[in-house]
Amino acid sequence: MYYGEKVRLRALELEDLDLVMENWNNLEMRQFLATAWPMSKNAERKWLERATTMDPWRDGGMVLAIEDKKTQEFIGTVSFFDISKQSQRAEFGIAIHNPENFGKGYGTDTIRVMLWVGFHILGLNSIFLITLDENERAQRAYEKAGFKLVGRYRQATYMMGRFHDFVIMDLIREDFLKEYPPGTRVGEP
Ligand SMILES: CC(C)(COP(=O)(O)OP(=O)(O)OC[C@H]1O[C@@H](n2cnc3c(N)ncnc32)[C@H](O)[C@@H]1OP(=O)(O)O)[C@@H](O)C(=O)NCCC(=O)NCCS
Repeated sequence: MYYGEKVRLRALELEDLDLVMENWNNLEMRQFLATAWPMSKNAERKWLERATTMDPWRDGGMVLAIEDKKTQEFIGTVSFFDISKQSQRAEFGIAIHNPENFGKGYGTDTIRVMLWVGFHILGLNSIFLITLDENERAQRAYEKAGFKLVGRYRQATYMMGRFHDFVIMDLIREDFLKEYPPGTRVGEP
């Protein structure tokens, strides 16, 4: 439905359950997310039931599937959550599921497309994210897509044997529109 240079973002479907289960319990990927314990197929089915019926304004969230534009390979998921209607603000989240697909440009492209969705479809004014301090790959991808460093919460989370700082980044509408004004798209079908 929404296209970048390499990716297509489409609705997540209940039929994606097996694709999600293929890599969701891979610690190489999950160590960078908030939860690093195994998720059962049942838990993921229930999450998919919620994620596939979400309305951004009623439920405050939106989750899309990331696909390779050419091969239709399922690459991962990207989301907005805690969407505030009053403040026109949302938090951003992304996961490329298979570590073999890290570093191939899928992340940066997906982030750009989702920012386009946030600012041009949802009409948001501000999008922010929180990431682990050592997740430099993520920070680089976010920066390339336009996010700017806000600051850090020191020792805000415990993961893989120690406390880590959270790095906070944001992007506001007026800055995104300098690169992608109304009428522009990130990629073509
Ligand atoms: C974070 C994530 C979305 C990035 O997507 P990606 O497709 O891997 O990243 P891209 O290929 O688009 O860009 C990565 C950039 O970081 C650079 N990079 C890779 N590893 C790096 C490292 N260890 N340190 C610094 N930079 C690094 C790459 O060289 C590239 O920059 P460049 O194009 O200037 O060379 C993806 O890796 C992912 O989902 N990881 C697991 C889950 C996760 O971390 N989610 C985000 C939680 S906040």
